[in-house]
Amino acid sequence: MLISDPVHDLEDGFEFMHVPTHLAIIMDGNGRWARQRNLPRIAGHRRGVRVVRDVVQECHRLGVRFLTLYAFSSENWGRPDDEVSGLMDLLASYLKSELELMLKNRISLRVIGELDRLPKNVRMMLEETVEKTSDNRDMVLTLALSYGARNELVRAMRRMAGLVQAGMLAPGEVTEDLVDNLLDTRDMPDPDLLIRTSGEMRVSNFLLWQLAYAEMVFTPVLWPDFDRGELHRCLNEFSQRERRFGLTDDQVRNGMTADRRVND
Ligand code: FPP
Repeated sequence: MLISDPVHDLEDGFEFMHVPTHLAIIMDGNGRWARQRNLPRIAGHRRGVRVVRDVVQECHRLGVRFLTLYAFSSENWGRPDDEVSGLMDLLASYLKSELELMLKNRISLRVIGELDRLPKNVRMMLEETVEKTSDNRDMVLTLALSYGARNELVRAMRRMAGLVQAGMLAPGEVTEDLVDNLLDTRDMPDPDLLIRTSGEMRVSNFLLWQLAYAEMVFTPVLWPDFDRGELHRCLNEFSQRERRFGLTDDQVRNGMTADRRVND
């Protein structure tokens, strides 16, 4: 099933027919938010963490089952050292402060990306949090860290080549399901909706395979200013879209469902 149960009558007047089962977010604009206030960039990231907390709670409340946040890209390693280490510190303190809430709300943490590039202390905290929350079933919160979709695909292709070389896989046995299973996101449904903040309209090497059929909503709001109201507005926009997965609108209205991989 792609869509969760209906949610009605939010306090700000929004009413959704459905919320996405899997919501992915590119959190962008922290640096600009800080610059507008003559603050160091890290102040924007710090404020961004507060928004992460709020968005996680609100998505949980609304019944989003999978929330995936682009928190640090492969390319972000190229930023100034103090910004990179500041982001790693913020991540570590986020993990420490949120564990209790994750356990209370039955949220399990998952991480995707090239994790062996992360500092050891962060990696250990991530492993510990993933382990402690692994039985939680209400929502899966996935942090994309040191993540780049092309890198994820290259790692998957290497594994696939290894299987072929070992005689465990014939070229004709390569299917879309097999590729799905070799990606970091294995066992997760594809995102139904991608939100990107700050007015940029790019995918920026995020979940390139998995976003094939996602709806996209771009908001000019900078991530540190993103709040529940703006989240509701984005979800409302999604809720009004008709997803056809390659079928005609008549077929969709008549309840036909498509193999999600048919071209549209
Ligand atoms: C993009 O803004 C944001 C990032 C590169 C990092 C996102 C990180 C957070 C929101 C905080 C840490 C997250 C967690 C989960 C603890 P930018 O710096 O590229 O902004 P700009 O485009 O305005 O410069």
